Amino acid sequence: MQRSNASAGWTRGYDLIMASDATLTVCADPAALAETAANLIIDVATEAVRERGRFMLCLAGGETPRATYARLALPAFSERVRWDRTWAFFGDERVVPPDHSESNYRMAHETLLSRVPIPPAQILRMRGEDADAEGAAAAYAAALAEVFGTRRSELPRFDLVLLGLGVDGHTASLFPGSPVLREVFRTVAAVHVTAAQIPQRLTLTFPVLNAAARVIFLVAGAEKAKVVKAVLSDQAMLPAALVRPIDGELIWLADRAAAALHPIGGAR
Ligand code: 6PG
Repeated sequence: MQRSNASAGWTRGYDLIMASDATLTVCADPAALAETAANLIIDVATEAVRERGRFMLCLAGGETPRATYARLALPAFSERVRWDRTWAFFGDERVVPPDHSESNYRMAHETLLSRVPIPPAQILRMRGEDADAEGAAAAYAAALAEVFGTRRSELPRFDLVLLGLGVDGHTASLFPGSPVLREVFRTVAAVHVTAAQIPQRLTLTFPVLNAAARVIFLVAGAEKAKVVKAVLSDQAMLPAALVRPIDGELIWLADRAAAALHPIGGAR
């Protein structure tokens, strides 16, 4: 199992070896999870800039990443990142304006992007404000291709994709039963999710998530314990379980409450 040196050493939890291509790090609490995640993001960023001259980061939405983004924005952390070489993207977006309380861009902007010197031109948000969601998805796919310099048959390869986990096993806006789970060609799709508070969404698809060099799931809270167990033990083919980087590393960062039902994560 290839484990990134970024995940060795400083974790306050303990690394658990899972399947051959994934690791689970269990952190004591949400604060430890945020610190572990921030340190790991910095390590990946440093490696990406050193190896490739830039850091291509795909941000997660929802509430869990807030603490990580806020920690990363603290000077003791943010001063360790070459923000001038960093590009920020989004794994999904709700179809709402960027200043809407439910906007993933707004959450990331408030907690991180407005607090670090990343060039605005290097922040590529999905245009949730566009009534034509299909058009917004196609435009974002075109923007990805342009920035990554990929031709039609190639996939953009993020240095790091951050993802959250819904209690139903969704990730990004890839929800159980959605036709987009079978998407194999498009990198970005417009989806309608009746189960979601904001049903109309834009999302990256599995091909681009699984083309990433590294994916980190950020999961916290006792309400996630059942779905963490289900996803990590492959009990059910839930969307989050289908995130398996083809040539990359998969890291699950969970706090103890979220890992409580995992056969090993609950060990004391
Ligand atoms: C979104 C996210 C979504 C999120 C999960 C977990 O736009 O809602 O992309 O996939 O990560 O729903 O959300 P919480 O972190 O709020 O539990």
